[in-house]
Amino acid sequence: MSGRCGRWYVVCEHWSDADAWFTDRLHAPDPTLDAALEQARHAGLPEIAVSAAQGKVLHLLARMTSARRVLEIGTLGGYSAIWLARALPADGRVVTLEIDPHHAEVARAALDAVGVGERVEIVVGPALDTLPGVTGPFDLVFVDADKENNAGYVRAALEHCRAGAVVVVDNVVRGGRILEPAHAEDPDVAGVRAVVDLVAQDPRLDATVLQTVGTKGWDGFLFALVTAGAG
Ligand code: SAH
Ligand code: DHB
Ligand code: MG
Repeated sequence: MSGRCGRWYVVCEHWSDADAWFTDRLHAPDPTLDAALEQARHAGLPEIAVSAAQGKVLHLLARMTSARRVLEIGTLGGYSAIWLARALPADGRVVTLEIDPHHAEVARAALDAVGVGERVEIVVGPALDTLPGVTGPFDLVFVDADKENNAGYVRAALEHCRAGAVVVVDNVVRGGRILEPAHAEDPDVAGVRAVVDLVAQDPRLDATVLQTVGTKGWDGFLFALVTAGAG
């Protein structure tokens, strides 16, 4: 396979061309959303936000499930939070957890600039520490922070989920590294394997992984349905 290297992932031109072809036709042009990405880049944040198509998957999923309260772990510059916030009714809420105060600041500016600031609460700190204090219950959870703590995030988030909630975990395929012996010791791979084991074993969860290709290479989302809430 030929392609250009992103961070740890390779992007085949056909994949990014197809992403562009579909988003050109199916997404309304959105300069404010593009500006959020540009500002994050300008502020020196890593360019690892979800792709536009992935952002719209999250957005549509929130609308399809009539989500009102969304929990996000890993804010970065607020790009995925914007997609999610725009899916909610006016009294809906996104609570998004971010360890890096600079990222949180950039995200705050982006969310305010696109007009969803009032709907989004950014909680700064290590998510394992801040998760116990968040106010749910949540209808949708998007896990997209450091991969090592994935299982801890899902375990803690479950305490704040209603029955019927959906949990999405980003980056579970990692360009195929998940199965490669050469990456068996990679803590990110270990974090993904741990969250898959946790989800497989927890009777409250029913799940699958949808692999994806596109502008972010070959990766995948884990989708889990919470069949019994935390009470
Ligand atoms: N969801 C974002 C991308 C998140 S990138 C989007 O698609 O737009 C991952 C983010 O998780 C980074 O901003 C990183 O600072 C944050 N992060 C890493 N470790 C964390 C931790 N322990 N607690 C909370 N956030 C963390
Ligand atoms: C990285 C993190 C992500 O959440 C992602 O979607 C892509 C890349 C990274 O840390 O390299
Ligand atoms: Mg991600």
